[in-house]
Amino acid sequence: MSRTLSGGLRLIPVARPYVGLEEEAAVAEVLRSGWLSQGPRVAEFEAAFAAYVGAPHAVAVSSCTTALHLSLVALGIGRGDEVICPSLSFIATANAIAYTGARPVFADIDRETYNLDPTRIEEAISRRTRAILVVHQVGLPAALNEILAVASRYGLLVIEDAACALGSEYFVRRIGMPHGVAACFSFHPRKILTTGEGGMVTTADADLAERIRRLRQHAMSASDVTRHTARQVVFETYDEVGYNYRMSDLQAAVGLVQLRRFDRLLERRRYLAARYSRHLERVPWLKTPEESAGARHNFQSYMVRLRPDAPVSRETLMQALLERGISTRRGVMAIHREVPYQEEKWKVSLPETEAAANSTVILPLFHQMTEEEQDYVVESISQVGAFAPTGT
Ligand SMILES: Cc1ncc(COP(=O)(O)O)c(C=O)c1O
Repeated sequence: MSRTLSGGLRLIPVARPYVGLEEEAAVAEVLRSGWLSQGPRVAEFEAAFAAYVGAPHAVAVSSCTTALHLSLVALGIGRGDEVICPSLSFIATANAIAYTGARPVFADIDRETYNLDPTRIEEAISRRTRAILVVHQVGLPAALNEILAVASRYGLLVIEDAACALGSEYFVRRIGMPHGVAACFSFHPRKILTTGEGGMVTTADADLAERIRRLRQHAMSASDVTRHTARQVVFETYDEVGYNYRMSDLQAAVGLVQLRRFDRLLERRRYLAARYSRHLERVPWLKTPEESAGARHNFQSYMVRLRPDAPVSRETLMQALLERGISTRRGVMAIHREVPYQEEKWKVSLPETEAAANSTVILPLFHQMTEEEQDYVVESISQVGAFAPTGT
């Protein structure tokens, strides 16, 4: 739904979910079915999702944060352990590690891709390191081959925070195969495929999938579906402390519809992203996103960077765009600057992370965005730069 600013100016949002009558009908069908949570639609969504990314197993949960948390728990990571991850990420990446009692240890990123720099991982490894939590930054796959090589040299697990990376590819294989031991996805409304809230873990490890399945519903030994369909009375047991991280069938029904139209959503997004990059060539002080070797972006977000010679500060640019009815967001945050992680003594310095967190901006990009709206964004950016008084 587009909003208007005071004065009647139409607001171009930074993102907008693409949902319609098919999703409404799918939800209504679930409501009438009598089975609302973690039932047949969830199982169907898991199977369709696994087939789409090419993973042997997919387990649906309530969010990507809970997908990451359960993956770490199921892999036995906890108090006393360290997990290496980028600080340049949404805070959920580090929070999921912290929930287990383990410590996130930040490593710096590559200047061009904003992804973990494989050459900076080794300096963050200690005898407590158990895993590397790789983020595919705003949908651009990280240098998995190099990261997997470091991990195998040190006997570390690799878990993928693929929150933004559905449809992205790494050397022609979809993210989620998975390349590491597990990959975790988000279906938050800012993502290309949304279920309102929701997440998925994909893995090739059947035991891991089974353990995550149990832990997502209080470690219950027999699921609701098993008990519902049993011909004899079943008493379930709870052999450890689990969680309620279930996905509802209402969400899964939406996910199934979204997955059917996903390739179309992806194609449109890539088209608009390529168009942005072409048209933004006329703004030399902005660096547009690039795809690294073997990596194919899904353009979950279109993130640009202000070069050091930019005639405006990032804040001035974002405010001027907002005044023209264009909503933007700062680029990816630096987690180590936030209160829960600020006090720690970080082993490594994070200059690239800090520079990227200070200079990046996410521009509006969504399925329904018109070329006219996109031209207006590009034109507004050039104008803000051209008319900036020196020293802003
Ligand atoms: C990199 C990253 N990890 C994790 C998350 C958390 O996802 P969710 O909101 O589904 O918990 C997000 C959400 O935007 C994200 O961008």
